[in-house]
Amino acid sequence: MDNEIGDVMIAEEDIQAKVKQLASAISNDYQGKELMLVGILKGAFIFLSDLCRELSIPVKFDFIVASSYGSGKKSGGVVRILKDLDVDIKGKDVLIVEDIVDSGLTLNYICKNFQARQPASIEICALLRKPDDVRSPIEIKYLGFDIPSEFVVGYGLDYAEKYRNRKDITVLNKTPGNYSEKTQTFRR
Ligand code: IMP
Repeated sequence: MDNEIGDVMIAEEDIQAKVKQLASAISNDYQGKELMLVGILKGAFIFLSDLCRELSIPVKFDFIVASSYGSGKKSGGVVRILKDLDVDIKGKDVLIVEDIVDSGLTLNYICKNFQARQPASIEICALLRKPDDVRSPIEIKYLGFDIPSEFVVGYGLDYAEKYRNRKDITVLNKTPGNYSEKTQTFRR
């Protein structure tokens, strides 16, 4: 057993139950509309793929790749879009799907950037949020779990590109020392 991996924070069955709950709320709210799901890669790929298969409404997909840079222990909020949307979202109902909201800086940037493209609506679905770390508050309409400020891996989340394929969400025994290093090297 790899000793980087600590205790399970959220078990597989609890994640799956939450995904079903979120999908049911989304299906309800977007009844009669055509929803555009936008996944933020790489972290959201597993959450998005489970979530979309629980939806009972028609959906289309697009993906972006973003990266945030900064100095010190936290992300500096300098976000770059490394791969933009393929489609025009003007007039569309957009739901951004994210793995985890930490400082909130990445999502704030992406939301503002998307707003300028005049979608009909834009909302966020995030599996995890670290409320104690949020620096740039953002409304998350569909939220899975609030978690403590610990570095977690699994269910799409990585440490140095490892552990994304774990079925549960697990605490990493060692804390990545420098957040900006983490965001550049370990995420997405
Ligand atoms: P922020 O909200 O802009 O600070 O950045 C959120 C991003 O940081 C997420 O999409 C993840 O890629 C990464 N991140 C934050 N916390 C964790 C964690 O505990 N494990 C793995 N990645 C994390």
